[in-house]
Amino acid sequence: MHTALEDMGYEALTLGPADLKLQVDYLFSTMSNAGDLPYVSANVIFYDTPDIGSPARFRVIELNGVKIGVTGVLGSKFASKIFPEGDNSANDLLRIDDPVASLKPIVATLKEQGCDILFLLSQASKSETESILKSIPDFDLCLSGGGPEDPNGLTETVGKTVVMEAGRKGKYAGVLGYFPDEEKKFRFELVDLNKDRFQRTQAMEEHMAFYQDLLREQNIVESEPAVPHPSGYTFVGSEKCGTCHTKAYAKWKSTKHSHATETLIKGEENYSETEWISRINDPECLACHAVGWNPQEVFRFEGGFVNMEDTPHLTGQGCENCHGPGSHHTEMEAIFTETRQSTPEIIAAREGIKVNLVTAEKQVCNKCHDFENSPKFNFVKYWDKVIHRGKD
Ligand code: HEC
Ligand code: HEC
Ligand code: HEC
Ligand code: HEC
Repeated sequence: MHTALEDMGYEALTLGPADLKLQVDYLFSTMSNAGDLPYVSANVIFYDTPDIGSPARFRVIELNGVKIGVTGVLGSKFASKIFPEGDNSANDLLRIDDPVASLKPIVATLKEQGCDILFLLSQASKSETESILKSIPDFDLCLSGGGPEDPNGLTETVGKTVVMEAGRKGKYAGVLGYFPDEEKKFRFELVDLNKDRFQRTQAMEEHMAFYQDLLREQNIVESEPAVPHPSGYTFVGSEKCGTCHTKAYAKWKSTKHSHATETLIKGEENYSETEWISRINDPECLACHAVGWNPQEVFRFEGGFVNMEDTPHLTGQGCENCHGPGSHHTEMEAIFTETRQSTPEIIAAREGIKVNLVTAEKQVCNKCHDFENSPKFNFVKYWDKVIHRGKD
């Protein structure tokens, strides 16, 4: 994974909450590997030893005779996402110091070293970045990681600092021009890395294949802890539902939902990959393409899809992703089949498995049909394609 960053020639990177949720040992090993990834942070400290060298406190990069001093910072609010219990002191693997107090001596050093440009990489909320820049007005540039996923490409200024955003998930690249002799020294452009302008490259496909292999070897899907479903029930699979609800099942089988997992293995014709690389071991795809995951938070519920061998009954975007886990309703209906008597418990379970159209539109489809994965989504048109009628 990190070799891709090396290929792209990254000179400085700072660590955000998502990076730091990975194990410190793992991060450290990627950094001390060949090529040394250039992580910088003023206030993120591994193993309680600021001198360990990784992440570096700062870097001085010389480009065409211009000396750029770069450091990074992790805001307090973002830090609390990594330590949800709020206890940071007990963690001797990972220490996060006060942002402003950590930055001050670094800024002094960068000035001493004669840097022409001071550059802050800020992993902090927008308001915290602003208050950091007000406390330390020396930075010329700041790249803020606290804004929206798709920023508008405009810069803002705090004091003399020009603040830029490049969004999240690597969808954009920020390009900065430096014109030292002009009044407006910096010009910024946000470049959308869309597939119409940028073709896939052989090198990146190799990295992707390597990454997917790594996910498989480390068995990430199973080794990440699963969370009990809030209902207390678990998943039985669409085929089981189909033994009683034959009409709904037949309809479902004819929709794209029924082969959503297969798509991850085989890909789809219009997708621009030259040779499809299977994503069947990738939680970030399975979360919407199989049964029993939380699509937006990307975690597996207990009893959710793991792999084709152990959980073949949980393939597809199945009934239970919309109706909720069906173990209880199924047990109740098995009793009903024998006794032919509707008890309050059986009726309550029937109510529990229902999902009405209003809930579906507001809370179900959009968990997966979000802007990124289904830009053309329109509830009325889409529901029309998957509508199923009949209780038998
Ligand atoms: C053993 C047979 C059986 C199984 C298995 C079964 N159901 Fe049912 N289900 C029933 C019966 C019977 C009813 C009541 C139908 C009626 O009211 O006419 C029902 C009712 C429902 C309803 C409410 C329909 C309504 O609007 O009144 C939904 C939704 C439903 N089931 C979905 C599922 C799903 C999803 C699964 C799989 C997780 C499933 N069922 C498994 C027999 C079953
Ligand atoms: C758990 C995730 C998830 C949920 C919830 C979900 N979908 Fe989907 N949907 C998918 C995936 C994944 C695909 C693509 C399947 C494939 O082709 O591999 C898809 C495809 C579709 C398609 C086919 C689109 C086409 O190109 O023809 C329709 C229609 C659709 N969904 C409607 C809905 C509606 C309506 C809802 C809510 C009632 C809904 N979906 C809820 C994941 C979901
Ligand atoms: C947040 C939910 C979500 C995630 C995560 C997700 N997908 Fe999807 N995917 C969808 C939905 C919804 C569709 C259907 C879009 C539509 O037709 O409007 C879809 C469609 C597709 C299709 C096109 C299928 C077709 O028949 O048109 C492919 C291929 C695909 N996804 C691959 C992936 C891969 C690979 C990943 C992981 C990198 C992934 N998806 C992650 C929700 C998701
Ligand atoms: C994309 C989400 C979604 C999927 C997948 C889905 N359902 Fe539904 N289902 C709904 C919604 C929403 C309704 C309510 C429709 C309404 O109220 O008009 C419904 C209604 C039903 C009903 C009642 C039908 C009626 O005539 O009243 C049954 C039974 C049912 N579903 C069973 C299933 C079974 C079995 C599967 C899997 C084979 C399944 N559903 C897959 C969303 C889904």
